[in-house]
Amino acid sequence: MKISVSILDAVNRYEAVEKLNDTNISYIHIDVMDGKLVNNIQFQDMDEIREISKISKFPLQVHLMVEDASYYVSKFASLNIESITIHLNIKNDIHSVIKEIHNMGYLAGIAVSGEEDILKIIPYLKDIDMILVMSVVPGRGGQAFISNTSDKIRYLRNYIIKNHLSSVIEVDGGINDKTIKNIDGADIAVVGSYIIKASDYDKQIKSLEQ
Ligand code: DX5
Ligand code: ZN
Repeated sequence: MKISVSILDAVNRYEAVEKLNDTNISYIHIDVMDGKLVNNIQFQDMDEIREISKISKFPLQVHLMVEDASYYVSKFASLNIESITIHLNIKNDIHSVIKEIHNMGYLAGIAVSGEEDILKIIPYLKDIDMILVMSVVPGRGGQAFISNTSDKIRYLRNYIIKNHLSSVIEVDGGINDKTIKNIDGADIAVVGSYIIKASDYDKQIKSLEQ
């Protein structure tokens, strides 16, 4: 399973990225929050994201927890970005934003938050590259893993196989060396505080390998 590290709660985000450059993770996960879609404001300074995309050896995965996703997407042209993920309850037309993301040359994802029904994502599956299954309520790091996430992953995996889709399943929130056992069948794990709050990143990353 690939690891994407959320640097949301790093004391110094630039230093965290420099340290992560020496590990064998796959992506840096950027949690953009507008204080409207979620009750928290993070990564509103585009220069910070641009700078991180320059210093990071790994491509960024941008997780947009914002109402006006279209506005934010337009700010991310020509960066070291692999994917941009939006939520279902944005104020823009979802299909148009997916097109905007694809036109910029990035993969497009849709997130289903911890308390949302997984079935809501089905109508969009053939048009997206990634499903972000949230295993916490979006808005902050350091929360406990929601246990019914395993059922959601299993349902999605079966659906993907049955319908010959190629969507990647990423799981985000509350993942550590114990809870990672509940996300078997996912392709990518987003891990925040379990790595970023520790002094030895490598040790934490290795403990996630099963
Ligand atoms: C929550 C964010 C997550 C979170 C992950 O809204 O989307 O990416 O920061 O952090 P941990 O691993 O601490 O739950
Ligand atoms: Zn996230």
